[in-house]
Amino acid sequence: LSASFRLDPAFTVAPVSRRTFGSFVEHMGRCVYTGIYEPAHSTADADGFRQDVLALTRELGVSLVRYPGGNFVSGYRWEDGIGPVSERPTRRDLAWHCLETNEVGVDEFVKWAGKAGVEVMYALNLGTRGVQEALDVHEYLNQPDTTRLAELRRLNGADKPYGIKLFCLGNELDGPWQTGHKTAQEYGRLAAETARALRSAEPDLELVAVGSSSSAMATFATWESEVLEHTYDAVDFISAHAYYDPSDGDVGSFLASAVDMDHFVHSVVATADSVGARLKSKKRIMVSFDEWNVWRQADFASGASAANPDEWAVAPRVIEDEYDVTDAVVVGSLLISLLRHSDRVTAACLAQLVNVIAPIRSEAGGPAWRQTTFHPFAITSRLARGQVLRVEPSGPTYETAKYGDVPMVDAVATHDAEAGEVSVFVVNRNQGEPVTLSVPLGFGARTFEITEAWTLTDGDLSASNTVDAPDRVVPVATEGVTVEDEILRLELPPVSWSAIRLA
Ligand code: AHR
Repeated sequence: LSASFRLDPAFTVAPVSRRTFGSFVEHMGRCVYTGIYEPAHSTADADGFRQDVLALTRELGVSLVRYPGGNFVSGYRWEDGIGPVSERPTRRDLAWHCLETNEVGVDEFVKWAGKAGVEVMYALNLGTRGVQEALDVHEYLNQPDTTRLAELRRLNGADKPYGIKLFCLGNELDGPWQTGHKTAQEYGRLAAETARALRSAEPDLELVAVGSSSSAMATFATWESEVLEHTYDAVDFISAHAYYDPSDGDVGSFLASAVDMDHFVHSVVATADSVGARLKSKKRIMVSFDEWNVWRQADFASGASAANPDEWAVAPRVIEDEYDVTDAVVVGSLLISLLRHSDRVTAACLAQLVNVIAPIRSEAGGPAWRQTTFHPFAITSRLARGQVLRVEPSGPTYETAKYGDVPMVDAVATHDAEAGEVSVFVVNRNQGEPVTLSVPLGFGARTFEITEAWTLTDGDLSASNTVDAPDRVVPVATEGVTVEDEILRLELPPVSWSAIRLA
């Protein structure tokens, strides 16, 4: 089997947005407590943050972190998490059926984000709360002058405003499971009012309206249309969330999850642009794909990975999915899809960061390690630089139950003209055979050498990284990759993800 595509520096999509490499820290399960924060841990710093997890976060190449939820945020009172820790209340978290001690709140999180070197994307509660609370938390976070809440922030140790630019106007309010679930009309009005009020405080905020929780929602696309009718002028982004579940055993469809992500993005962009056309607006709404990942949701639905409903525990184990090789190949392919849409998807968050469906795992009092999915994310974040190049792979296809006929090989490339570097990211979804890939490099007289090449695959596709074998699955140097006569050639093993850097 063989596949090919041509690289041409003139076929640019858009600059790589660093925000594509975002992640997500929700007060959920053990993401915060014993994830990023564990004061009694041997690696904890003076603020109680695990330095082993911080080091892995930096290595992952995360640019942006959404906080504090998720479903959690729709019942959250932000002011519970500020001031002296001993005076903070313990509350019920109805989203995940557990107790929230509020030991970590926004001041601690911003401090952690500074250490991790990531931008904060702050999610507002528009489930049980409204315009006033959104204004209050914004005043606390960003107000420079001597107002009551800016003073309170000072009193709590932060003299300077945090300068957070990116705010989510709620979370998944299209979902009946969401505390404060709303119709598109109800939500659209509230989001527009909140956005306008926030903008009168700080005009250049970047605001994300809630889009669909998945493309399978009955309200998919009509939700976006109705919400944007209300909010078009007041927001910059519409969100998208997608989780891909391999539980039904249909590996062929699962490997083609990026086909669904492509369709999701096209549909949301088309819907947003049609609202823009109706409103005669020149403005273009961007997509914030602020929750995406592989997630065995069937295990959660059956209760196998959910909190015990008979208990109210603090930081219980919830959806600590262990990722295998196939999952990592799918994560790599979803990053290819996100990059391909860089003209419209300019922010994205792998959900979540630690323990909860996460690339990083940690044990209380124990080690932290990289899941299989860590690797394609870290390599893509490191190598994707400059402009995204459009590529059109030609090659074999296969039939899937969910998405029909899909290409076996999918790819994207980036070109950093200043550094003189090109990176190619490619996936082989075929389960049976390798595919030989040839990539003519259309850069004129310019010659290239391979500076690094990585492939993630394994003879055992169900292999994963565990506390006892944390490096069982790692990317290996790609065998037999060559550049001759300005053609890049390599063999893509079955079910594999590869990244090649040329300079
Ligand atoms: O990331 C886990 C959960 O998935 C989030 O809390 C919610 O927004 C989504 O349904």
